[in-house]
Amino acid sequence: MKKRVAVLISGRGSNLQALIDAEQDAYEIVAVVSNILCAAGLDRARAADIEALTLDHKPFGKDREAFERELNALLQSRKIDLIALAGFMRVLTPYFVNAWQERLVNIHPSLLPKFPGTKTHERALAAGESEHGCTVHLVTEEIDAGRILGQARMPIHADDTPETLAERVLTLEHNLYPRCLADYARTL
Ligand code: GAR
Repeated sequence: MKKRVAVLISGRGSNLQALIDAEQDAYEIVAVVSNILCAAGLDRARAADIEALTLDHKPFGKDREAFERELNALLQSRKIDLIALAGFMRVLTPYFVNAWQERLVNIHPSLLPKFPGTKTHERALAAGESEHGCTVHLVTEEIDAGRILGQARMPIHADDTPETLAERVLTLEHNLYPRCLADYARTL
């Protein structure tokens, strides 16, 4: 049975598009949820006839758990088996992470455990790294530190900038994420 996947986004959704375009024989994307009301990724979902939902975090103020309880209810009511974070720019609390333990996957633009957090391309350049890439991993309470499901790597060139790295890493992401999500879905 295909696993019912919800993809959580905050922005342009190019990874969401890669997950949609991949052959979905192990998973089926049944919902896309964005915390940003005008996220371009929502149009990608609609174009693919996938339910596109918004849940604005702002009315919840500092109460992250209240936002997550609402999010959880949306996901539970759609019988989601597996969540794929794809550029979802909210840090999740232990409440949500524990509720979805082993069912919450993320893609991160660095070769973890190097450069968790933000500005990964700038930091890889500043550190004088010779290679860079992306990681698909399970989400745990500690940021970008859960079990690694897959990585893709590439060399850093002398003339690379954060922008050129971002562009090439994104291409790697689009190839890596669908494969890892499908492989992981098959194990559940
Ligand atoms: C991707 O590069 C993804 O790895 C990164 O945001 C971008 C989203 O692009 N995620 C993170 O930095 C998570 N901490 P997309 O909206 O085009 O998929």
